[in-house]
Amino acid sequence: MENLEKIRSECDNCVRCELGKTRTNIVFGTGNERAALMFVGEAPGENEDKTGIPFVGAAGQLFDKYLISVGIKRSDVYIANILKCRPPHNRDPLPAEEDACIAYLREQVKAISPKMIVCLGRIAAMRLIDADFKITRDHGKWYDKGGFQMCAVYHPSALLRDPSKREDMLIDMIEIKKRYDFLTK
Ligand code: URA
Repeated sequence: MENLEKIRSECDNCVRCELGKTRTNIVFGTGNERAALMFVGEAPGENEDKTGIPFVGAAGQLFDKYLISVGIKRSDVYIANILKCRPPHNRDPLPAEEDACIAYLREQVKAISPKMIVCLGRIAAMRLIDADFKITRDHGKWYDKGGFQMCAVYHPSALLRDPSKREDMLIDMIEIKKRYDFLTK
């Protein structure tokens, strides 16, 4: 899509924050540019920085398993992050970095125009749904915001650290698939 390519080329040259100096590649986002369902994570990690593709490391591989288990094709959805560049040592994004980068995501969302946006983890949920979002309390709850159905699920890295959260993740992903089927039938 022409507009997405324009946003991507702006990101390619971006030095709106310090991460522009340390990245190997921007991680713009991948998938169906007309997706009804968009997933938004936090920021690229080491493997994503190397490849330019979101969610390809260990967390991404676990996330892929959930997509497969509930019958969502990765190529049907669009996956992006709050930040396009990797924070050093995978630290949390700084508020100033999010502020510098968020306009790109908003433009991407406008271009793709999904029906549903699912936040992967608390960082995306606090930025896109509610600053007081508590992932343990609020994961799997649905919100109508700006014409999108939105929810958040655990970040796949949290599931790697704490497998006891995996059952809740599956329940949330099953509901996402149900709503996705309803909205795309
Ligand atoms: N974690 C994220 O939040 N995003 C990625 O792309 C990879 C790991």
